[in-house]
Order: sequence, then C-alpha cells, then structure tokens
Amino acid sequence: MIIILLGAPGAGKGTQSEILQERLNMMHVSSGDLLREHRKRGTELGKVAESYMTRGDLVPDDLVIAMIVERLAAPDVEHGIILDGFPRTGPQAAALDEALDTKGRRVNAALYINVEHDVLVNRLSGRLTCRLAGHIYHEVFAPPRVPGICDIDGAELYQRDDDKRETAAKRLEVYFEQTRPVIEYYRERGSLCEVNGDQSVEKVAQDLVDCLR
Ligand code: AP5
Ligand code: MG
Repeated sequence: MIIILLGAPGAGKGTQSEILQERLNMMHVSSGDLLREHRKRGTELGKVAESYMTRGDLVPDDLVIAMIVERLAAPDVEHGIILDGFPRTGPQAAALDEALDTKGRRVNAALYINVEHDVLVNRLSGRLTCRLAGHIYHEVFAPPRVPGICDIDGAELYQRDDDKRETAAKRLEVYFEQTRPVIEYYRERGSLCEVNGDQSVEKVAQDLVDCLR
C-alpha cells in the first residue's frame, strides 16, 4: 500500500506519520527529513537544497524526484510507504506515478489534512523538533515532559530554521501557490480523502485510518 499525506506546512503530516507508521506497520518517507539529513551530512544535494530551504522555497523538482525515486528503490519500503511532503508539484506527482507504474504499483490513497491558515502559523511558530530523530513537539499543544528534551530519546529539541516567522510565512505562500493544485490532481483520480486537521492529534489519526477502510 502506498499512502500520500497532503497538507500545508504545520498541518500535522509528520505528527500523523509517526502514529500511522506504527499503527499500519508501514515505512515513513519524508522528503523534508531526507533533505535535512543531506544538509546535516553535507552532501552535494544538501548544499544545493540549503539555500532553497532557508528561503522557504521548494527545492527544484529534478533533484527531489531523483532523491525520492532512489529511496523508493530500497527493500525496506516493499511492504508499504507513507509519503510525507512529496509530491508537492504537478511534475512531482506525474513522476511518482511513472516511477510506481514501472514496478506495477500505484498510489492507493491521498490523505489531505486540511487546516486553516491562522492555526498553521501558531503551530509552526511553536514547533520543537528532536535533533536526533526528528520527533515533533509543540511548546503549547504537545510539550515535552522535560523542557527542551525529547521524551523518546533524550536528545535536544531545536527550532527548525525554516520555522522562523518570515520563512514560515513564505512556505505557506509557496504551498498555496504551488502545492494546492496537487490536491486536485488526486481528487480527479478519485483517490483523495479529506480530513479536518484542526482536531486533537488522536482524532485526526482516527479519521485518517477511517479513510483507508
Ligand atoms: P517539510 O519538512 O516537508 O515541511 P512542510 O511540508 O512545510 O511541513 P512541516 O514539516 O512544516 O509540517 P507538518 O505537516 O509535518 O506538521 P507537524 O506534524 O510537524 O519541507 C521543508 C522544506 O524542504 C520545504 O520548505 C522545501 O524547501 C523542502 N522540500 C521538502 N519536500 C519537498 C518537495 N517535495 N519538493 C521540493 N522541496 C521540498 O506539526 C506542526 C506542529 O503542529 C508541531 O508542533 C505539532 O506538535 C503540532 N501539531 C500537529 N498536529 C496537531 C494537532 N492536531 N493539534 C495541535 N497541534 C498539532
Ligand atoms: Mg513535517
């Protein structure tokens, strides 16, 4: 099974992926996490991606598509994939269909987590991320037990550089211009299921699972 999680920056894609991968026994593949990993390792891709990401722009399609196609060729994703943050342009959606088609696979469901703009701004400004494994918290909505420390692995929590006010605003703008059309792409194919993302984390997770029934 191949599931795509769609939604604006801050909609809860990463939060829900953490829950769904356990519940559905699937592999979580996040384009943003992969790019941050490349930046940390200082790879060529990481160096190129850095300037786009710190501005809040999308990394060029050809680079992101190549990165994801390579990831999807690994044996650990054979049982099922939750794709978070990809595709987010028309060409990325078409490239994904093409890559899956050559393996006789297809996108089974596109789950769209819908959240209003003002709520997104509050979520991004208070988000805290685990430096070791990317576990997600929020200063107010999902605080860690010990301030500044990840509950799961004890690593330091930090604010993503693209969560600073100006960059976060730019990312939301880019989303509404470039990524919203991808929702229509899946709606037209009959694979879209929309969920209200402005509910408790648990309720959103339940609604997403219900979409898959
Ligand atoms: P990426 O890392 O994918 O970021 P994003 O799509 O902007 O999404 P976020 O990770 O910000 O939000 P989320 O939906 O995962 O929300 P979360 O669960 O953390 O991309 C980063 C950058 O990489 C891009 O800007 C671009 O440059 C590049 N990139 C990545 N993919 C690309 C692609 N395909 N093509 C080109 N470039 C690409 O939750 C947010 C906060 O809300 C947290 O604090 C959380 O605790 C809280 N929260 C979550 N759910 C709830 C709830 N139900 N109630 C209350 N609080 C909640
Ligand atoms: Mg995320």
